[in-house]
Amino acid sequence: MLVHTIKDVREKVKEWKKEGLVIGVVPTMGALHDGHASLIKKAVEKCDRVIVSVFVNPIQFGPSEDYDKYPRTLEADVKLAEGLGADIIFAPTPDEMYGEGQRLSNDTLTYVAPPFFYVNKLCGKSRVGHFDGVCTVVMKLFNITQADYGFFGQKDAQQLIILRKMVNDLNVPIELIGCPIVREDSGLALSSRNKYLDEQGKKDALALSMILNNIKACYDKGVNNISALKETAFSFLTEAHELEYLEFVDKDTLEDKETADNNTLVLIACRVQGVRLIDNILL
Ligand code: PAF
Repeated sequence: MLVHTIKDVREKVKEWKKEGLVIGVVPTMGALHDGHASLIKKAVEKCDRVIVSVFVNPIQFGPSEDYDKYPRTLEADVKLAEGLGADIIFAPTPDEMYGEGQRLSNDTLTYVAPPFFYVNKLCGKSRVGHFDGVCTVVMKLFNITQADYGFFGQKDAQQLIILRKMVNDLNVPIELIGCPIVREDSGLALSSRNKYLDEQGKKDALALSMILNNIKACYDKGVNNISALKETAFSFLTEAHELEYLEFVDKDTLEDKETADNNTLVLIACRVQGVRLIDNILL
């Protein structure tokens, strides 16, 4: 069932809670692909009722980012989510989420701001304010849906770590379930932003997963020196790539690693054809 208002979601949730049903929420920005499908399937398996939100959240985009051109495919999204067993597809307007005419700045809106340490690195460095926007909208979705479980992709690893921190710090009564990255056969991690790439761009984008796989293979052979592991990336990069970062951090705390070990998450962000792509691998 497609619903657009918070009131309609709350009414359904109230009924479900009365029946003692377990509720799952899968927050998305739409343009659903097989990565999202894996989250919805997991949610349907684990929960009695599933809400998929489809909302391109304006407050997590910077002024020069792709908010306006972000792919919007609501009809196909509803079909896919319902086909997989979702009970509600919640697709609010920005006015419904943030109040009509609300100026979307932290002068006027109560934000959930994650700690500086978590946002002043990796994607947060170039996307200032991004994680404040993510935490704020996700907190709102948790409050609206009252879900018992929230499902998120491991592809946005920094996002998931920050959301876990938020849930823990603010005692939000929900359990977050991280789901593995879904890839094309080529190795390319699925992303709604892959839609911006042409054939050549998709080929060039393979460098991200190739770099990560190669680092993992070197680590598995015994190399744990991070500079040496980083060095191996350069043979995959051409003038088609604009590397933003390649970092080695603790998988739970985001602290920088001095030496690679089995708790090390390697994260990469790189632009191809002007499209910012991210990927990661656990060593
Ligand atoms: O990962 C996303 O698609 C978004 O950041 C999320 C979690 C749906 C919040 O808008």
